Amino acid sequence: MYNAVKLVCGRSFRSRTGSFKFLPNRLEKMSDPIDKLWGGRFTETTDAFVEAFTASVAFDQRLAPYDIQGSIAHARMLERIGVLAEKECDAIVEGLGDIALDISNGDFNWSVELEDVHMNIEARLTDRVGDAGKKLHTGRSRNDQVATDIRLYLRDEIGRIVDEIIRLQGALLDIAEAEAATIMPGFTHLQVAQPVTFGHHLMAWFEMLARDRERFRDCLKRVNIMPLGAAALAGTGFPIDRAYTAELLGFERPAANSLDAVSDRDFAIEFTAAASLLMMHLSRFSDELVLWSSPMFDFIELPDAFCTGSSIMPQKKNPDVPELVRGKSGRVFGSLVALLTLMKSQPLAYNKDNQEDKEPLFDTVDTVADSLRAFADMVPHLKANREAMHRAAKQGYSTATDLADYLVRKGVPFRDAHEVVGLAVRLGLESKCDLSELSLEELQQLCDRVEQDVFAILTPEGSVAARSHLGGTAPERVLEAVRTARALLPAG
Ligand code: ARG
Repeated sequence: MYNAVKLVCGRSFRSRTGSFKFLPNRLEKMSDPIDKLWGGRFTETTDAFVEAFTASVAFDQRLAPYDIQGSIAHARMLERIGVLAEKECDAIVEGLGDIALDISNGDFNWSVELEDVHMNIEARLTDRVGDAGKKLHTGRSRNDQVATDIRLYLRDEIGRIVDEIIRLQGALLDIAEAEAATIMPGFTHLQVAQPVTFGHHLMAWFEMLARDRERFRDCLKRVNIMPLGAAALAGTGFPIDRAYTAELLGFERPAANSLDAVSDRDFAIEFTAAASLLMMHLSRFSDELVLWSSPMFDFIELPDAFCTGSSIMPQKKNPDVPELVRGKSGRVFGSLVALLTLMKSQPLAYNKDNQEDKEPLFDTVDTVADSLRAFADMVPHLKANREAMHRAAKQGYSTATDLADYLVRKGVPFRDAHEVVGLAVRLGLESKCDLSELSLEELQQLCDRVEQDVFAILTPEGSVAARSHLGGTAPERVLEAVRTARALLPAG
């Protein structure tokens, strides 16, 4: 039962009891409040530049589905505790549903005067459902609302990112299996070091991505905590049921401290740190793809669909996708530093600084999602040039360590064996041949322990086959690693 109370300043208010008190004489002397949801205490309108400068709606409208999700849960909770009547709650829920539809159809007129996603949606709700809309904000603030929105958003995005990592990992497993026995040079200092299998190299990428996936999953534990109920900073005097709201929204639990809940963004920083590590990994992967696809290496061919040509040099096929991903790592690292700097030294609780969290966070999500998508789409079409890889593995005396190990097994102390092999390499350099092309006599002149069986270990195949311990590069170990990984990899 509501009675409209007309105030002298021209705005009508309603009170439940009708005994709404106001001071007409004093109000008569006051100017009208400015036209803002928070306009009551203001006498001057907001400067037009300041209005645009402080608004976040241009970028935070991305949070709309989560804002609506949060508002629906909040309204249901308010109904449960008797603050909203059933009819009011129904009107709010229905109105918000319609607004969600309008937004997804592009039929929502975002207004800078309404500052942010929260006030745009609330104002539209009130337009649609009247007074019930004005009650939605009972017991909450934009401070706990925005923190909730970002967490809901990030929770969804982490799910999508994890799925893309799984897709990329699946693609790596497929090639690693097909190339388990493909010989390539392994490098240290970008100099040929020892032969490895291409499958083993690809499984190194798989491992990095497995840790990245784990980091995102772990971060999710701290993202999935509900700020709602913290209100502006100190909580609310209404008998809210936070456990119920948290349950409706699928949060693990309500945040334990209201000041912390509205002010901290460490979960976003943690996400961006995990994203930075992922991008660092992708940048290394990218760099190898760029090198390997150059004619000097010629180890792989990238699919045409993922490369571009040159406007002047007709022969060019440029590895744009890995190059771009390598470059994009920079903006994600930048976002991490931006978010850390944004939070550094901020006094409790909410400060407007926090509005600056969104663009770096959104950009990080977009960059990571796009980079993963490009990689997951491209990797299945990588073609390995087995001959070129094998040829390169035979260059650079990559089996020198195998020869030293051979001598050790024949009773030569490792340091002496190292020196003997150094001399053998020098001999090879002088006669421009590989260790396996030196004659038995030449090798025996360097060390009399050398026998005919030495040639089996001097080939790259012999070298990789010998490394058949757990974590080694031998083809059967790679196949085993692929099998184990496949069994553990969740469906994407
Ligand atoms: N647009 C604001 C943000 O993104 C929402 C919270 C505003 N709160 C406030 N007290 N001004 O942080």
